[in-house]
Amino acid sequence: RTKRQAISAEPSALDPSQLTDVTLTSYCKTKESRELIQRALMDNDFMKHLEHGQILTIMDCMHPTCLDKGCCVIQEGDDGSMVYVLEEGMVEVTKQGQKLCTIGPGKVFGELAILYNCTRTATVTALTDIKLWAIDRQGFQTIMMRTGLIKHSQYTDFLRSVPSFQTLPEDILSKLADVLEETHYSDSDYIIRQGATGDTFFIISEGQVKVSQQNLVGDEPETVKTLSKGDWFGEQALKGEDIRTASVTAVGDVTCLVIDRESFKQLIGGLDDVNSKQCDSDEVKAKLQAEADFFSSVS
Ligand code: CMP
Repeated sequence: RTKRQAISAEPSALDPSQLTDVTLTSYCKTKESRELIQRALMDNDFMKHLEHGQILTIMDCMHPTCLDKGCCVIQEGDDGSMVYVLEEGMVEVTKQGQKLCTIGPGKVFGELAILYNCTRTATVTALTDIKLWAIDRQGFQTIMMRTGLIKHSQYTDFLRSVPSFQTLPEDILSKLADVLEETHYSDSDYIIRQGATGDTFFIISEGQVKVSQQNLVGDEPETVKTLSKGDWFGEQALKGEDIRTASVTAVGDVTCLVIDRESFKQLIGGLDDVNSKQCDSDEVKAKLQAEADFFSSVS
């Protein structure tokens, strides 16, 4: 037991290539401790958006530590090396000598300096003997980064499997995997609304969508086609008019990979497949123009 956590001099940011070599160590825990840590991580405003797998791995890698009443666990202004979950006892949080709050069991603290690479924003002192679970910065950041690397390679593999993108070089596929955002929809959700402006391109990675068009105000929208995994949509608003020419709604649960206008232009815009779809025929062009005129007249 020490009066003060040993704080090592740490780099302010880790090199991602080093993180793949880091070995993560699991520590045994009772079922109650595992549940308490998981709940604490999921309850924390800054960590609750982590993926479930990340939460489980952080929980697995936390090791136990005990400190006596009166110990300074965290000193404001120091470099941070640990994120903690309090299992037993109470701690007090102070900033520039002023009390901010007390924290009891089942709460995370010490996350800010690690998540934001800043110095400790407050001092945390043990009000009683305390039992903590802790994970160091390197372990924590490795878990964040590894999940990112796995996702990146899943996205690249998926894009490579889409016939339209098969001619793209590896470095472009990798850049696409960097910039895309995964979005999720439930049955009947509108992904795109006809007549709205749009600056995103979508690739379906799971599920099906329905493309429908309404020719005149008051008419029932007509289903034009159904698209599924590996199909893409939204390119017309990026290449010509920036008004959506049809509505796209989810059929069941849908996951899309979304690419913004700038990345689309730089990385995909030149693809023959994508170009030829837009310029299918004069009839399609005329229809797009008529729709654009129609929507600008009703707006
Ligand atoms: P960190 O800045 O790493 O170290 C001090 C910790 O105190 C901080 O992370 C938070 O976990 C916690 N903390 C800081 N400000 C507050 C606050 N206003 N209320 C509760 N906890 C806080």
